[in-house]
Amino acid sequence: MINSHIPVMLDQVKSFIPMSRDLNLIDATFGGGGYSKAILEEFNIKNLLAIDRDPTSKFFFNELNKKFKNIELINEKFSKIDQIIQKSKFSKIKFDVIIFDLGVSSNQIDNPNRGFSFQNEGPLDMKMGSSDLNAYEIVNSFDEKKLADIFFQFGEEKYSRKIAKNIIKNRAIKPIDNTIALSDIIKKSVPNNNLKNKIHPATKTFQALRIYINDELNELKLALQKSENLLAPNGLLIIVSFQSLEDRIVKDFFNHKSGKRWRSSRHLPDLGDLGPITLKIITKKPLRPEDFEIDNNPRSRSAKLRVAQKI
Ligand SMILES: C[S@@+](CC[C@H](N)C(=O)[O-])C[C@H]1O[C@@H](n2cnc3c(N)ncnc32)[C@H](O)[C@@H]1O
Repeated sequence: MINSHIPVMLDQVKSFIPMSRDLNLIDATFGGGGYSKAILEEFNIKNLLAIDRDPTSKFFFNELNKKFKNIELINEKFSKIDQIIQKSKFSKIKFDVIIFDLGVSSNQIDNPNRGFSFQNEGPLDMKMGSSDLNAYEIVNSFDEKKLADIFFQFGEEKYSRKIAKNIIKNRAIKPIDNTIALSDIIKKSVPNNNLKNKIHPATKTFQALRIYINDELNELKLALQKSENLLAPNGLLIIVSFQSLEDRIVKDFFNHKSGKRWRSSRHLPDLGDLGPITLKIITKKPLRPEDFEIDNNPRSRSAKLRVAQKI
């Protein structure tokens, strides 16, 4: 299997990792192992724990494991990061760096059989690992309102109702059973002038389905809370996100945990107990990829990098 994933904002991610110490590190989204490989080659790593819910990541891990023996991969959802650690040989240690590089890898998008891409014909799957539902089941069985809600809530798609209506109309004739059939229905649901936009008209609906199927926002919320407890003093939480829903979760979490929300909400109703202040925000504003990175790897264009440090 060829690794087609180009790691995003790798130089910026590396720039936060301390050079001087032996580090215990979690790569919570191992993917093709691009981050892990670069970090193992350039830093003093005592232990690296890799997590990915996609079993195919094992292949890339095995390649890396030929050269580096201080690494371990757990194929599991990162929302279970606390249980993963408990069951591992790392149950007694705290981590210096935990990295999340969210979303899907190019290895997943570029494989038509996974159904993530509206550019290549494939089955309507979109599962990153094991999930209860796939895209086919949702598109062909959910009612119109539920579909519209998913497209609006997780894709911020303003034509969500029209798209849902057309899905219902089309599936009454025959099941919608592949990515291109779904993409064509979406294309016909949005006004023509919208087709001139740079982004493909199916982008938001496909994103919404993927987020819903893989429960990505809940995964992130849970993983952030649990990761913060696993950090050593001065440990770093480094997060790269690719869409605004994820970035808002990261930003809110960092704000809450650094006390910022409390201070800024002095005149607003009490938000209740948000837990102790345990983090310091390192990136006041999210970092973005340099222009040359976006030119070389257009998939990096929406990336945002945020870093917080345990206090
Ligand atoms: C953008 S890729 C990471 C790429 C990696 N940094 C590299 O350089 O190759 C995101 C990876 O996170 C995994 N992933 C996404 N959500 C996950 C979750 N909730 N639990 C575990 N892995 C997840 C995906 O399966 C995918 O392989």
